Amino acid sequence: MYSVLTGLGYAVPDRVLTNVQLEQMVDTDNEWIVQRTGIRERRIADASTATSDLALAAARSALADAGVSAAEVDLIIVATVTPDYAFPATACLIQRELGAWNAAAFDLEAACTGFIYGLGIADQFIRAGTYRTILVIGAETLSRITDYTDRNTCVLFGDGAGAAVLRAGEEPGLLGLEIGADGRGGELLVLPAGGSRNPASRETVAARRHYIHMAGREVFKFAVKIMEESALRVLARAGLQPGEVDLIIPHQANARIIDSACKRLGIGRDRVYVNLDRYGNMSAASIPVALSEASARGKLKPGDYVLLVGFGGGLTWGAAVIKWNKEAKHD
Ligand code: COA
Repeated sequence: MYSVLTGLGYAVPDRVLTNVQLEQMVDTDNEWIVQRTGIRERRIADASTATSDLALAAARSALADAGVSAAEVDLIIVATVTPDYAFPATACLIQRELGAWNAAAFDLEAACTGFIYGLGIADQFIRAGTYRTILVIGAETLSRITDYTDRNTCVLFGDGAGAAVLRAGEEPGLLGLEIGADGRGGELLVLPAGGSRNPASRETVAARRHYIHMAGREVFKFAVKIMEESALRVLARAGLQPGEVDLIIPHQANARIIDSACKRLGIGRDRVYVNLDRYGNMSAASIPVALSEASARGKLKPGDYVLLVGFGGGLTWGAAVIKWNKEAKHD
């Protein structure tokens, strides 16, 4: 029994925030951002749009792509660090809007690795025979936790959502997956206030502690190393060499991280899908949006080996190898 990706979808807000617009907001310049990150613009949700709105649009599109009705969904997992509320879970809001009354629903938090963690959990339920149809969503409105007075972080992040439908099938599927964590690096990427350690107060708001705080250089080093190691482990588990990978979908944090990791793996840029120039880092949404776009743009054909690899706050990481068996589609 394999977990098979049978539907994909994504949604991003219409509003574009360009590097040139950021020049008006903080002491930065377009050239620095492009050279140091590869990002040119990102999408920003309007005030009335929350994470669940983007997640719902992505979910509807993935279900339609899979030809699956809401009633057939057994489980909804939403990976996010920007849920609508601390509770109820964003996944429960999606269940309600879809009318997926047969589905269990929960959120998971593994920062930018959340979607791969979600795939891992879904795969366990499917291979155990517990569930047949699972919706895994990565969705974020990072603009809500981004400090637009901090040039170290505000140029990096954007909003969006991607979704995948996984179903039980006889043909492979998901060939291998690993997830991992190293909590010793937890302080490198943190939203300090608003939880039980530092509940919201006048002081936490004044100190801007409800925004992302990041030690960029340390995260960079961790990312390059772990992407290579995790990719090699998961490929070995699937009996594949890096040279056999048709398309790698890396987490979209920084073009230099992607380039360094792919160089170490010996995977040329022509086999890497990159969309961070248009969206920036959308945390848990980055990988499913990129996968969904790559599929919609006809970059994947049946029989292809696709490698997903990501890293993020926690620190966390994950990688997955998929044998693609959906027909190519075009926009
Ligand atoms: N515009 C202009 N200058 C900027 C800037 C900006 N937006 N952001 C930072 N700088 C400055 C810094 O202040 C620093 O100046 P200083 O030397 O006078 O102190 C200089 O640029 C170099 O900073 P440094 O941190 O060494 O840059 P970098 O090459 O490491 O790039 C990041 C910074 C954040 C882009 C990079 O470290 C990165 O991408 N890290 C990983 C972040 C990540 O992936 N986070 C999410 C994980 S899921």
